[in-house]
Amino acid sequence: MPNSLVTICYIVAAVLFILSLGGLSNQETARRGNWFGIIGMLIALGAVTASDAVTSYGILAIAIFPAVLIGGTLAARVKMTEMPELVAILHSFVGAAAVLVGLGLQLDTQAKPLEGIEFTIHAIEIFVGVCIGSITFTGSVVAFLKLRGSISGSPLIIPARHILNLIILAATVWLGILFVGHDVNAFTYLLIAMVITGILGIHLVMAIGGADMPVVVSMLNSYSGWAAAAAGFMLGNDLLIIVGALVGSSGAILSLFMCRGMNRSLISVILGGFGTGDGGGGTPMETPEGDVTSIDATETSTLLKNARRVIFVPGYGMAVAQAQHTVAKITKKLKENGTEVLFAIHPVAGRLPGHMNVLLAEANIPYDIVLELDEINHTFAATDVVLVIGANDIVNPSALDDPNSPIAGMPVLEVWNAKDVIVMKRSMGTGYAGVGNPLFFNENTSMLFGDAGENVDAILAYL
Ligand code: TAP
Repeated sequence: MPNSLVTICYIVAAVLFILSLGGLSNQETARRGNWFGIIGMLIALGAVTASDAVTSYGILAIAIFPAVLIGGTLAARVKMTEMPELVAILHSFVGAAAVLVGLGLQLDTQAKPLEGIEFTIHAIEIFVGVCIGSITFTGSVVAFLKLRGSISGSPLIIPARHILNLIILAATVWLGILFVGHDVNAFTYLLIAMVITGILGIHLVMAIGGADMPVVVSMLNSYSGWAAAAAGFMLGNDLLIIVGALVGSSGAILSLFMCRGMNRSLISVILGGFGTGDGGGGTPMETPEGDVTSIDATETSTLLKNARRVIFVPGYGMAVAQAQHTVAKITKKLKENGTEVLFAIHPVAGRLPGHMNVLLAEANIPYDIVLELDEINHTFAATDVVLVIGANDIVNPSALDDPNSPIAGMPVLEVWNAKDVIVMKRSMGTGYAGVGNPLFFNENTSMLFGDAGENVDAILAYL
């Protein structure tokens, strides 16, 4: 394919990726945004494959076909609740790809030798690409293991950890200077930098506590974008640079939004240490205790039937129980009964940005009754029944009342202001942040124990 046509394809693909991001910013246009992204990626793949960059179709086929098969099978099999792990491990692949591209280019003996400023720029591209790739790779693998529950979600706080990070940073810069300076040991410097930035990636993510994991996921998303952009620079591929920059900057913006949603500063999350259980205040948080009131599905249905306004608060447990379709049917029944039904979405509910929105959209729940935390928090006081479906941390009043709570300062859905609160969960166990929840002991709270899927089925049957 002539170079001019390849360039046109790259421009079209880049525009489609921008339209895709624009589309994904709104629930009503998200499906279209997804299609823009898919078409853009197909055009990009087609153009690269047909360009001069590919010299052996046999090798390309050997690399692509097993990858498509493995990726397709895994993606088709993955459960919605395992999505965050999948996203984390996919970020690690981008990091690994940037590292391999950098090492490959450094080892390439057939490449045209570069001199002067061209050499320096290329060397910086390789060094930065390998370092960002290495941090992204190891950080994402640790995030994957934490999200999967294979390693503990609590932060690993080693003494003088900030100094350790600074030493690694300084050593990396020093190795970078040596690497760029034409030294005969350049490859060794690159390898050492790869290993120590890899350790930095592990350390940075290990130090971040469970409650801050949403920010880690979006931050690694951003890193993976910058790693892809670095690979684009190394390979001289403009489209990869554009796509990497789009992913990198949108991931960074998402991280900022997530931090705002949790009332944290980005720097404090990156430096880690939250979620230790002492909230940084030194005194452990109080463990909530007292008597809890149980309720059954029939009594819950009666309360719902008699309510004028009901708010559903979905959380991670709804995703586990896959209760959204039955909840949609309950919503329909209640609306037919003249009840106003609303949904309250917390920015970090579930395990992925927008997790609950995706589930509700899947069940065709109208977007206009799905409200964000800021839009709905003042409505709870004028609500008869709040049904908390498998949510815990996002409705925990200790975030507001207890400065020693690991989630202190995080805005939460203030469900306790409603007349009656019903919490659906299987036990008195804690949520992702591992924090006890005083809400369960409130006088106006009743616990509907059991699997949320079975309980919503029972409520629907009664209604
Ligand atoms: P959680 O605080 O994790 O609480 C979920 C609750 O659902 C659990 O307490 C569990 O209690 C219950 N549950 C699980 N399976 C259930 C089932 N089949 N039926 C009924 N209940 C079930 O969830 P949340 O309130 O949505 O808060 C999200 C948390 O995850 C926050 O701490 C957030 O920081 C973190 N996080 C979020 C993200 C993103 S981006 N959203 C990413 C990583 C981490 P039982 O075991 O007693 O049933």
